[in-house]
Amino acid sequence: MEFTAKTLLPEKQRTDCAVVAVFESHKLSGNALLIDKLSNSAITQIIKQGDFKAKSGQFLFLRNISGLPAERVLLVGAGKKTDISAVAFRKLLDQTSQTLLRTQAKDATIYLAEVNVVDQDEAWKLRQISEIFEQNIYQFDELKKQKKERPVLKKVVIDVPKGSKAAANTVALKQGKAIAQGMALARDLGNLPGNICTPTYLANKARAMARTSTKLTTKIIDEIQMKKLGMGGILSVSAGSAQPAKLIIMEYKGAAKTQKPYVLVGKGITFDSGGISIKPGAGMDEMKFDMCGAASVFGTLQAVIDMALPINLVGMVTSAENMPSGSATKPGDIITTMAGLTVEVLNTDAEGRLVLCDALTYAERYKPQAVIDIATLTGAMVVALGNHISGLFTNHQKLADQILKAGETACDRAWQFPMGEDYHKQLESNFADLANIGGPSAGSITAACFLARFTEKYHWAHLDIAGTAWNKGGQKGSTGRPVPLLCQYLLNRIAK
Ligand code: BES
Ligand code: MN
Ligand code: ZN
Repeated sequence: MEFTAKTLLPEKQRTDCAVVAVFESHKLSGNALLIDKLSNSAITQIIKQGDFKAKSGQFLFLRNISGLPAERVLLVGAGKKTDISAVAFRKLLDQTSQTLLRTQAKDATIYLAEVNVVDQDEAWKLRQISEIFEQNIYQFDELKKQKKERPVLKKVVIDVPKGSKAAANTVALKQGKAIAQGMALARDLGNLPGNICTPTYLANKARAMARTSTKLTTKIIDEIQMKKLGMGGILSVSAGSAQPAKLIIMEYKGAAKTQKPYVLVGKGITFDSGGISIKPGAGMDEMKFDMCGAASVFGTLQAVIDMALPINLVGMVTSAENMPSGSATKPGDIITTMAGLTVEVLNTDAEGRLVLCDALTYAERYKPQAVIDIATLTGAMVVALGNHISGLFTNHQKLADQILKAGETACDRAWQFPMGEDYHKQLESNFADLANIGGPSAGSITAACFLARFTEKYHWAHLDIAGTAWNKGGQKGSTGRPVPLLCQYLLNRIAK
């Protein structure tokens, strides 16, 4: 989809659909008022008839409006308050774009940037428009013979007030689109099944991405090199699988060599059967989504490339398939990680931390500004926060604050959990330096504590996205989260 921002005159603006907001007070927004005047009070009349109450989420198409070169006018009910919240504004955009996509309109003119959004500026509003409109054209039907119809809407023009900064507007629209396209990549990878999206598939994807950008280089660490590096954690997870593990490293150079990089590390279990500690059958198909952390690293990198951010960023994807077999790791087995710490694998289903720990040790060599790992790590996270908010854990409060703030701005929230000595104690083992599980209580926290043992040399945060990475039920599918949060975090780092 193509997005532009301009200061428009509704009476001159030829379009398949003009989109304006109306409030329940029936106070017409500036442009609605203008269109009403041009069209012989078409809007006030329909309001008087009582057909359109302007309740939030109510939509009405007007056709054959005189005095206006628009094929259709879409009235958007914006609810009671004329100052709406960020979340309400996003919901309005979501419904608006879905309503438009059900029509045959090839282009639309949007007069919604004039709606006041609490605590947000114009650039934020524009970014949300391109992000949400672009997001809603996402379809995943590449594995169906019968394809869905492609969206007709191709061009969106957004009205901005006179004197609005053109360059900043263009950047905002570009950012929103880049983030949505990053999410689309993350969703595609997440939605692909385990028999297609293997660790090798992800490695090839990284190589292909590097071919599209001169700023990106890819390095793949295979099992032979892993053995040399002593990566007993990741190797113990792929031991039972016919698919070889891959540690995928993507280096994006957007700033001077001297600038320390940010590092993102994604859990990339392309299928988590649980291994010998096998999972129950119901819903096991959803464990193809156990690489959504990795997918978010790909998606964020893609967006960063598209936004051409002036930062250095390393994306690491630690990928394996967790399967039972004669060669699989067994409960009680003791492995040695790259960091030298030995781990008693009490449950082979707690495999995410085992692939992550070696990647986190490897990340030390980048002397990073900060490391964020993203993982569908624990079922307990879904119990704690449901499907709305991601769990956040850290060894550096300032980093946590930055991530929380980014989540708020991007409307892709995180919530911080505690850590500490008492929880670390739950990971003690009689036979090794630590166990890979900490018992039934506080499972998400002890999982984070396990990772913390491997991240002592730098500022680190861990996002547990077990609840937010995919939708269940009829809408089953990857969400593309937390690409918006991660992009916002990185955008905020260059703002200063
Ligand atoms: N990938 C799962 C976590 C998960 C489960 C995410 C359900 C989303 C939905 C992870 O590898 C796992 O199996 N964790 C175990 C840990 C336990 C054995 C300590 C879990 O949460 O049950
Ligand atoms: Mn598991
Ligand atoms: Zn898992």
